[in-house]
Amino acid sequence: MDIKKFSSESTFEANVVTEIVSVIENGSAKNCSIGLSGGKTPRPIYQALANNAIFDFEKVEWYMVDERCVPRDNQDSNYKMITEAFGKAEPNFFKHFHYFDTALEPATAAEVYAKELNKIPSQQFDLIILGIGADGHTASLFPHSPALLETERLAVRTINEKAPNPPVRDRLTITWPMILASKQILLLASGVDKKDTIEALFNSNLDTTQFPAKRLLEHTNATLFWLE
Ligand code: 6PG
Repeated sequence: MDIKKFSSESTFEANVVTEIVSVIENGSAKNCSIGLSGGKTPRPIYQALANNAIFDFEKVEWYMVDERCVPRDNQDSNYKMITEAFGKAEPNFFKHFHYFDTALEPATAAEVYAKELNKIPSQQFDLIILGIGADGHTASLFPHSPALLETERLAVRTINEKAPNPPVRDRLTITWPMILASKQILLLASGVDKKDTIEALFNSNLDTTQFPAKRLLEHTNATLFWLE
């Protein structure tokens, strides 16, 4: 995994945006597919992508990486975060956004979304934007979760055992086959509290069950963008 370190928020954001736009513009495919994570780090990047309107929104299909099993207008909803960040400035976004439908029962929502992912050529995102948690989770692939072992289904329901209450504990996530098949991975980490996490990613003896994000190190086109 390549590492790009930044000390200023604006340079970090500008470089991540440039990387995403270059994937969109240089892709040969008519429609480029991009996986979007939730979390705090990517929000300003999504806003910048929409506000600057520096590429043709008709060219991109956007896919949610994971979701909490909460209504779409809930503060913990990734649907809410992503659509607010993109949709305010770019109404065309909604036509091209694919998401877990939390109005459905979780297992059904995962199945329906997996069918959507199956329509992507070779089930391969051109780019996936991921984050990393202090416990080593990425997407909603948490330590010791059975979801880590999934080799067939592209999306599953899962649980964040450490979360305080049922709706936030219950999650929907894409799985390793979908993540690792992506042509390119951008792993985003921001803030001093991520220092130990990044140290654990590269230098700990933890295995991929204990620290799932370590599987990203298998990928040959993955870059960590790190705002220290
Ligand atoms: C989410 C994502 C999660 C996130 C990491 C990092 O929806 O929260 O599933 O994997 O990317 O927890 O989050 P931060 O960007 O907030 O550090």
